[in-house]
Amino acid sequence: MNLTDVAVIGAGAMGAGIAQVAATAGHRVSLVDAVPGAAEAATDRLGGGLDRLVAKGRLTADDAAAIRGRLTPAGSVAELPDCGLVIEAVPEDLALKRKIFGELGGSQPASTILATNTSSIDVSAIAEAVIHPERVVGLHFFNPPQVMALVEVIHGARSSATVLDEAVELMRAWGKTPVRCSSTPGFIVNRVARPFYGEAQRMVEAGVADAATIDWILREKGGFPMGPLELTDFIGQDVNLAVGTSVWEQTGRDERYAPTEFQRGLVEAGRLGRKTGQGVYTYAADGVLVGGDPDLGLAERLVGGPVETDPLARTVAMLVNEAADLVGRGEATAADVDIAMVLGTRYPRGPIEWGRSLGFAVVSRQIEELDRVFPGGRYRPSPALLDGTVQ
Ligand SMILES: NC(=O)c1ccc[n+]([C@@H]2O[C@H](COP(=O)([O-])OP(=O)(O)OC[C@H]3O[C@@H](n4cnc5c(N)ncnc54)[C@H](O)[C@@H]3O)[C@@H](O)[C@H]2O)c1
Repeated sequence: MNLTDVAVIGAGAMGAGIAQVAATAGHRVSLVDAVPGAAEAATDRLGGGLDRLVAKGRLTADDAAAIRGRLTPAGSVAELPDCGLVIEAVPEDLALKRKIFGELGGSQPASTILATNTSSIDVSAIAEAVIHPERVVGLHFFNPPQVMALVEVIHGARSSATVLDEAVELMRAWGKTPVRCSSTPGFIVNRVARPFYGEAQRMVEAGVADAATIDWILREKGGFPMGPLELTDFIGQDVNLAVGTSVWEQTGRDERYAPTEFQRGLVEAGRLGRKTGQGVYTYAADGVLVGGDPDLGLAERLVGGPVETDPLARTVAMLVNEAADLVGRGEATAADVDIAMVLGTRYPRGPIEWGRSLGFAVVSRQIEELDRVFPGGRYRPSPALLDGTVQ
């Protein structure tokens, strides 16, 4: 296999970063974009970024020149050389991705690994368009790809074991930390993280506590780098709602992933978070959060109390349940789930390890208690908590 040549399709936020990672790892990289001049502009921007690394002493001028020299804009998929790997990073649209994979399937050798950086589309659905679909995998990089170590290597229904092993090895060679997951809605990180946001939103909605107090508890008592509500303001309420809605739709509208009226209301009101100056919180013109003082007395009363009003216990129980369920259904290993959540979201602990220290039986009882208080199907202990699948 000719792994020397790599191509990246789509020179946007993700594609350009992935191209830099591949060129830094020593590959000749062709970068294609549909917008005339966009691949050239991205290559120039990457050159500027490399110059800044040289200025900071993090890269030698020779290495920067060599990396820059390996990056080449290309006019179209048809013009690409035969590659060992092609990574597609065009917008999240199944028809568009299928069209590109159809073209790649026809123009690249049967041995070329064809990867998609999709965050939410079923890899198997993309592979349907391709001759030799066994060579199609997901390589889900995180933003920004130059900085984030995690890559979810996604197997579609027809991805071959050999191609997956090669993709995993290649990501290691690029200095990344690959984890494996099946093409299940949200993969690992975007699936397991759902209750982190959903539980906090439900607690604000129900008046358990104000946002600042819930965020304070998750940060100060839980060790999370950001509270869930401030994090959704940072991500963008619209972006976070879209990811949640996609998982909800793809799971046949499973109650576990149902978006909240609270978040829908924010999006409808244009309160999208930091980028609009208002979201859950209000931000001053310089981006500083206005107000947002927690009620520390309330926080002390809630933590350690009944699970339905303890933001930390309730959130962690749901994260453990979600992670255990993914493992129990055989979508990913316990070790990979923990690595993915720590590297992809900077959670203080992997949820499986967290569940192990709390006791999976304890977590199962907490979810049963939540189901008793809030019936309707959202709170269902995963069989994996008690059947010995995770231990
Ligand atoms: N932005 C993120 O945080 C993030 C993280 C992980 C994965 N992803 C996924 O990566 C993919 C790209 O996301 P992005 O944020 O880089 O998008 P983006 O909009 O920044 O870039 C997409 C690029 O693709 C180009 N493009 C559109 N149609 C094309 C075509 N037919 N041929 C070639 N290029 C074409 C666009 O001109 C644009 O430059 C999506 O599937 C997204 O879900 C995004």
